[in-house]
Amino acid sequence: MTLKFDIQPSPNPTSDKDRAAKLVDPGFGRVFTDHMAIVRYSQGKGWHSARVEARASFPLDPAGAVLHYAQEIFEGLKAYKRDDGGVNLFRPDANARRFHDSAERMAMAPLPEDLFIDAVEQLVRIDRAWIPGGEGSLYLRPFMIASEIFLGVKPSAEYIFSVIASPVGSYFKGGPAPVSIWVSENYTRAAIGGTGAVKCGGNYAASLRAQAEAIERGCDQVVFLDAVERRYIEELGGMNVFFAFDDGSLLTPPLGTILPGITRDSIIALAKDAGTRVREEPYTIQQWRADAASGKLKEAFACGTAAVISPIGKVCSASGDFQISGGVAGPVAMGLRKKLVDIQYGRTNDPHNWIRNV
Ligand code: COI
Repeated sequence: MTLKFDIQPSPNPTSDKDRAAKLVDPGFGRVFTDHMAIVRYSQGKGWHSARVEARASFPLDPAGAVLHYAQEIFEGLKAYKRDDGGVNLFRPDANARRFHDSAERMAMAPLPEDLFIDAVEQLVRIDRAWIPGGEGSLYLRPFMIASEIFLGVKPSAEYIFSVIASPVGSYFKGGPAPVSIWVSENYTRAAIGGTGAVKCGGNYAASLRAQAEAIERGCDQVVFLDAVERRYIEELGGMNVFFAFDDGSLLTPPLGTILPGITRDSIIALAKDAGTRVREEPYTIQQWRADAASGKLKEAFACGTAAVISPIGKVCSASGDFQISGGVAGPVAMGLRKKLVDIQYGRTNDPHNWIRNV
């Protein structure tokens, strides 16, 4: 990596007292740190002007390409405070790789993976006082937008890559308490050949109507079905999904049109370490309902960087509701959650070398 970050600390950082107040109960995604990392790309010049500076608004021309054609990608990863005061990043290399893949699919300038990791680490270093203690963490949001001033439909010749940071508690208000899921039968998320496997803002924009329907029905999250047969479970609005059966096996929908979640991948690895059979196979909503009724299905849970592992207690759909594991958090979800979180916070050994100390 040849690009060096110019570090310009904020002239007006938040006082210790104000920061401590903001860290008491940060919730998710509303509190932000003092700085941001930013790198620019111009065709012909490549990546340049790498800086860490005071967090501020971007000046963006109203004809900036991202505002019209949504050429945008992002990532989500977390920094954790260890008991000894050190800081752990969880699998930033996996986020860097996925970001690179997302850029290629969206015809954006691919960001070198070491530059991605450097930007994240520089921001964590300068804002490390913002990492909450206890079960909180610092959610890092790298993203890239097309910034060329042009209304023609083509890949932008200019990009802004940035990383911002937000101290967070639990994504769901109830913490790891079971969440309820609304099955979206009117809207789908992705089709083969589309952008379902890419972390682009457009996927999330397209999920919002279905998510709003979920909220209207009193549910926390929406689950999408496949776009062809409208019966295979794909993923939730912002997280992957797992099913745990009475024979001890786990099932999760296969990759293709879903987001290749890093938490999903980590759960598969941890479950396999423990000798669990993990199937990456299609699973229909009809089978989900039947298996919940027969008792064959013991648990279902959502997973993602933001959500960690959140048990699913209830599934609601136009054709009726059903409960899973009596609507309470089950031992499989909570056991995997503990294993994962213990690695992330450095409370246990890290058999896959997932942790990077900052
Ligand atoms: C994440 O888990 O990091 C996500 O990107 C989900 C969401 C908050 C969009």
